[in-house]
Amino acid sequence: MRLGAFVLPNRLFVAPMAGVTDRPFRMLCRQLGAGHAVSEMVTSKRELWSSLKTSRRADHRGEPGPIAVQIAGVDPAEMADAARYNIDRGAQIIDINMGCPAKKVCNVFAGSALMSNEPLALAIVESVVAACAPRNVPVTLKMRTGRSETERNAVTLARAFERAGIAMLTVHGRTREQGFKGLAEYDTIAAVKAVLAIPVVANGDIDSPEKARAVLAHTRADALMIGRAAQGRPWIFREVAHHLATGEHLAPPTVAEAARWLTAHLHDHYALYGEASGVKSARRHIGWALRELPGGESFRAEMNRIDDCGAQLRAVGDWFARLGEQHERLPRIVAAANDDQIEMRA
Ligand SMILES: Cc1cc2nc3c(=O)[nH]c(=O)nc-3n(C[C@H](O)[C@H](O)[C@H](O)COP(=O)(O)O)c2cc1C
Repeated sequence: MRLGAFVLPNRLFVAPMAGVTDRPFRMLCRQLGAGHAVSEMVTSKRELWSSLKTSRRADHRGEPGPIAVQIAGVDPAEMADAARYNIDRGAQIIDINMGCPAKKVCNVFAGSALMSNEPLALAIVESVVAACAPRNVPVTLKMRTGRSETERNAVTLARAFERAGIAMLTVHGRTREQGFKGLAEYDTIAAVKAVLAIPVVANGDIDSPEKARAVLAHTRADALMIGRAAQGRPWIFREVAHHLATGEHLAPPTVAEAARWLTAHLHDHYALYGEASGVKSARRHIGWALRELPGGESFRAEMNRIDDCGAQLRAVGDWFARLGEQHERLPRIVAAANDDQIEMRA
């Protein structure tokens, strides 16, 4: 897949998730088969750029390219500034956030709320594209299907965004009103794909190789984006890639592999956040990694009492060593959805 001057290695992307897809997690997903990764959103508010949170998000040291940074905001000139700021710090692709359902993103009604204000949404796109074009930086955009079930304007907006110079569009198959409730629907994504020439990425509830295949077939999308299913299971990308290529299922990772990946991830995590903060924020990643494994729940409670990185690493290592005595490979996780459960309305 091409995106401006870049050729992406495959069509499986890890979704931007604030507080989750930091640099260590993006690098892990790429190592395990994701072909593209977009950063957590960076605010367009200049006064926040020097904050620890935003400067960490704008730090891409060691990350393989192309580096894609998502920006969020509501003012066209500020968004253009934010694009230039991030390009100066290494961004090679700028992604505009019109997908986040949070009521207030950066204290303004940004994210998917912008889909209700079509003129403003378009003005933002035009302003960001104008800032990025002279630097040869492609602009991509992520949105939902619309504001509500009665106001699904994704197709109208998608057409306007393509004309304004967006290079790739991701659609999460839910409305803003839905938040994360209900099931994602893929008819609107298919309708968007049918009218655009630029690549379209389908997103929402893809949590197994079978579902990935079904969503690709239904939407005819150029690529898939996976978010929550990659939490604790970053190897889902290579599982999906293998299934799409062969129709077969890849064997689950060995317990030793899973332990090695998680340990390396924890080291990268502590290096980014520092030990005191990192030991706490790492608990979520450890919890996700163990949540569907036998005995994982009770270990989570034990781990939440550990406040020291060395002890956390040892506890994780010991837990996997015990699991490895009983299983060579991770016990297979039963996917939350399968072909029969996929809602594909005609
Ligand atoms: C914790 C969390 C944080 C998220 N943060 C962002 C974000 O910063 N920008 C964005 O466009 N979408 C964000 N999303 C939405 C995801 O990118 C994705 O569209 C959504 O989770 C649906 O995909 P999934 O079903 O594969 O998880 C977030 C989702 C979650 C769960």
